Amino acid sequence: MQAAGSRARPSLALLLLLLLLLARTLGSARGPSSLHGPPRFNVTLDAAPELRWLPVLRHYDLDFLRSAVVRVIGDRVPKWVHTLIGKVMGKLEWLLPQPFTSEIRGMCDVLNLSLADCLLVNLAYESSAFCTSIVAQDSRGHIYHGRNLDYPFGDILRNLTVDVQFIKNGQIVFTGTTFVGYVGLWTGQSAHKFTISGNERDKGWWWENVIAALFQRHSPISWLIRSTLSESDSFEAAVFKLANTPLIADVYYIVGGMSPREGVVITRNRHGPEDIWPLDPLNGEWFRVETNYDHWKPVPKEDDRRTPAIKALNTTGQANLSLETLFQVLSVFPVYNNDTIYTTVMSAAYPDKYITKIRNSG
Ligand SMILES: *[C@@H]1O[C@H](CO)[C@@H](O)[C@H](O)[C@H]1NC(C)=O
Ligand SMILES: *[C@@H]1O[C@H](CO)[C@@H](O)[C@H](O)[C@H]1NC(C)=O
Ligand SMILES: *[C@@H]1O[C@H](CO)[C@@H](O)[C@H](O)[C@H]1NC(C)=O
Ligand SMILES: *[C@@H]1O[C@H](CO)[C@@H](O)[C@H](O)[C@H]1NC(C)=O
Ligand SMILES: *[C@@H]1O[C@H](CO)[C@@H](O)[C@H](O)[C@H]1NC(C)=O
Ligand SMILES: *[C@@H]1O[C@H](CO)[C@@H](O)[C@H](O)[C@H]1NC(C)=O
Repeated sequence: MQAAGSRARPSLALLLLLLLLLARTLGSARGPSSLHGPPRFNVTLDAAPELRWLPVLRHYDLDFLRSAVVRVIGDRVPKWVHTLIGKVMGKLEWLLPQPFTSEIRGMCDVLNLSLADCLLVNLAYESSAFCTSIVAQDSRGHIYHGRNLDYPFGDILRNLTVDVQFIKNGQIVFTGTTFVGYVGLWTGQSAHKFTISGNERDKGWWWENVIAALFQRHSPISWLIRSTLSESDSFEAAVFKLANTPLIADVYYIVGGMSPREGVVITRNRHGPEDIWPLDPLNGEWFRVETNYDHWKPVPKEDDRRTPAIKALNTTGQANLSLETLFQVLSVFPVYNNDTIYTTVMSAAYPDKYITKIRNSG
C-alpha cells in the first residue's frame, strides 16, 4: 500500500504540472476568452433619434471622433463627391430614410460637423469593407453564424467598435456591432429569430451609383440590416426584406435562423436578389462561406479566403461545430488577417452568447 501510494504521488504531481502547462498554453492561444471585447452600450429607441446616441458619445473624446471623421473622408471620399454632397444635402436630407438621418444629425451637432460630412462617413464605410461570413448547421440542427470584418482603417476603427443593445420599453429588441457615429449595422441579431451579416460586393463606379440611388430613395446597405432586425418577425420575413428592398449598392447578406436549414447567402444587386444560396444539410452542405466574391465563380488567387475557410470547416467537422470552433475557423490565416477589425459569433437560439472580439489590437 505504502509503495503504491508513493508511486502515485509523483505521477499526480506530474499530472498537475501538465494541467498547469496545458492551461497556460490554452490561455495564450487565440481563443475568444484571451481577447478583449468592445464596450457594450444600450441605445434607447424610446428616446428621440437626435438624442439616443448622445449617452454613447459621452464615453469618447470628441476631438478623437472629429479627427476620425476627417481622416476617413480624406482617405475614402473623392473630392468631387464631397463638394457635390455639400451642395445637394439640403434636398437629399428629405429623401433619406428615418430614423437614420435624424440620428446622424443629432451626433453631428454635438461634434460640430456638417450633416454632409457625417452622412459621407456613414456611406464611406460601405465601400472597401472586406469580410468573411459563415453560416452553418451542426449535426443536431443548431444554426451558428460568424463573421470577420476587415477594413484598412483598423487603427481608428478598433477603438470605435461597439456592441449595441437597442432598447424599447426596457427590453432588448435587437443587438448589433458597429462603430461609434455609424448608425447602420453590418452585424446583428434579433433574439430567437435570426442573425444577419453583410459583406461588400464591389461592382465599380461606386460613388456614382450610390449618389444616383440615394436620390431614388434606395437604402444604404447597413441601414437595411438594422431595419430588418428592428421590423422582421421571422427568418423568412428577414430573408424576403433583405432580398427585395432596393439598395444603393450591391452586397452579400448572410442570414441565420432558429431551425434546421435556416441559413442563406443572398447575393444582391441594387434592385433585388441575383442569387439565393441556402444551406442544404441533407446533401452534406452544412455550411456556406461567403467572402467578397460571387459563390458560383472562382475566387481571385491573390485574395482567396474562401478555400482556407472551407478547409478549416471540413477539418472541424459538423459534429464539432460550436460558437467556439466557429471562432477558431475565423482565426485561421488569411481568413483572419492584418485588416481584421473584429470577429463576431452568434446564434439566434442563444442570444446571450453573442460575442464580439477586437482583433489585431496588440
Ligand atoms: C463649430 O464650427 C464652426 C465652423 O466650422 C466654428 O466657427 C465654431 O467655432 C465651432 N464651434 C465649436 C464650439 O467648436
Ligand atoms: C486605441 O486604443 C488603445 C488601447 O485599446 C490605445 O492604446 C490607443 O491610444 C487608442 N488610440 C487612439 C487613437 O485613441
Ligand atoms: C441595458 O438594458 C437592459 C434591458 O433593459 C438592462 O438589463 C441592462 O442593465 C442595461 N445595461 C446598461 C449598461 O444600462
Ligand atoms: C471539403 O469537404 C468536401 C466534402 O467532403 C469536399 O468536397 C471539398 O473538396 C472539401 N474542401 C476543401 C477545401 O477541403
Ligand atoms: C470532434 O468530435 C469527435 C467526436 O465527435 C472527437 O472525437 C474529436 O476529438 C473532436 N475534435 C475536435 C478537434 O474537437
Ligand atoms: C501583418 O502584420 C505583421 C506585424 O505587424 C507584419 O509583420 C506582416 O508583414 C503583415 N502582413 C501583411 C500581409 O501585411
